[in-house]
Amino acid sequence: MKYAKLGKSDLNVSRICMGCMGFGNAATGQHSWTVDEAQTREIIKRGLDLGINFYDTAIVYQNGTSEQYVGKALRDFAKRDDFVIATKFTPRTQDEIDAGVSGQKHIENYLNQSLKNLGMDYVDLYIYHMWDYHTPMEEIMEGLHNAVRSGKARYIGISNCFAWQLAKANFYAREHGLTEFVSIQGHYNLIAREEEREMAPFCKDQNIAMTPYSALAGGRLSKRLGETSKRLQEDASKILVAYFSATNNTEGVAQKLADGLGADLYEITPEQPYTDEDLDYGNSDSRSSVEMDDPDARPAISGSVENMERYDVVLIGYPIWWGEAPRIMSTFIESYDFSGKTLAAFCTSASSGFGNSDSALRSAASGATWLDGQRFSAGASAEDVMEWANGLGIN
Ligand SMILES: Cc1cc2nc3c(=O)[nH]c(=O)nc-3n(C[C@H](O)[C@H](O)[C@H](O)COP(=O)(O)O)c2cc1C
Repeated sequence: MKYAKLGKSDLNVSRICMGCMGFGNAATGQHSWTVDEAQTREIIKRGLDLGINFYDTAIVYQNGTSEQYVGKALRDFAKRDDFVIATKFTPRTQDEIDAGVSGQKHIENYLNQSLKNLGMDYVDLYIYHMWDYHTPMEEIMEGLHNAVRSGKARYIGISNCFAWQLAKANFYAREHGLTEFVSIQGHYNLIAREEEREMAPFCKDQNIAMTPYSALAGGRLSKRLGETSKRLQEDASKILVAYFSATNNTEGVAQKLADGLGADLYEITPEQPYTDEDLDYGNSDSRSSVEMDDPDARPAISGSVENMERYDVVLIGYPIWWGEAPRIMSTFIESYDFSGKTLAAFCTSASSGFGNSDSALRSAASGATWLDGQRFSAGASAEDVMEWANGLGIN
């Protein structure tokens, strides 16, 4: 085993870190494919024997049971000074926000719970699991600094963020004498290389350690073609972003949503594409004018969504045409059974708001749960669209 210093910290970690998301009680939490305590102990024992001293878990992995299994195994098989344990906290919940729990208090509460789960009095690395868009960055940095000052965390790290966010947070900390992040855990492997663009050069410049997750792309890079697993099948996206876009504005927003959510993307393609003349809204005889004048118009769609059954959530995008969704959206909605699914519409427009543009769609899929829709400008940023998507509580 090779060892390295973790960024600017004094932590001496094995080059191979054991990711602990696959450990925990399968009956509780996000994944049903996690392994039980006996198997967790066996794997951790083997890891320790092979020289792995770096273990990474999170409070959200199987509702704290990953922390419990991993903490107990490490305590039983190794001396506290001989391993490095990292765990993570998630953003403030809506309940906490409503109850007025500050970012600082949130971190204190979560860290105390993680230490309890682990059966330890400190963690080596405490990680900000994903950017919290509803809590001021200043509160987070202060809360993390308090965690270090109290001795409950030796160092802090971040995961799932943009390079600008890490830069902003660390430069804020530096300016105010607070603790800086020493590591970033981003999604990186041979088929997801975005981190090479901004994050890797920034980390090199700042001596921040990169501890990528999904190095084998959830097993895709270690399996033969066509080979699958319970995990790959279950983790296939349950969210679909379906959109119609005549001049590509809505398409840009749909792509950002699908990227941010890891959702599948489906373009609603008219059998007969809309030409510039068709879209001429100054001409009452143009195809779009005629269709919108007729509530029963149902322009045909070419192709269809494969396996609509497997999606729990469908986000539906369209341009605003005279305050409404284009009729082809009605064709789309009426082509599937959305009962029991969660739906939300989004649109782009020149100036109109979202208004009641989804009302015809809502009544055509009344068996679904509809969440509030949102209008975006044509050039909406990834952060804009994700702020809406994260607020839906679907991911
Ligand atoms: C036929 C037609 C009608 C439109 N009506 C409106 C409207 O009522 N209000 C508005 O703000 N924009 C209106 N627009 C502008 C589009 O909503 C806007 O350009 C949208 O971003 C286009 O999205 P797309 O590129 O995905 O098709 C209209 C555009 C067309 C072609």
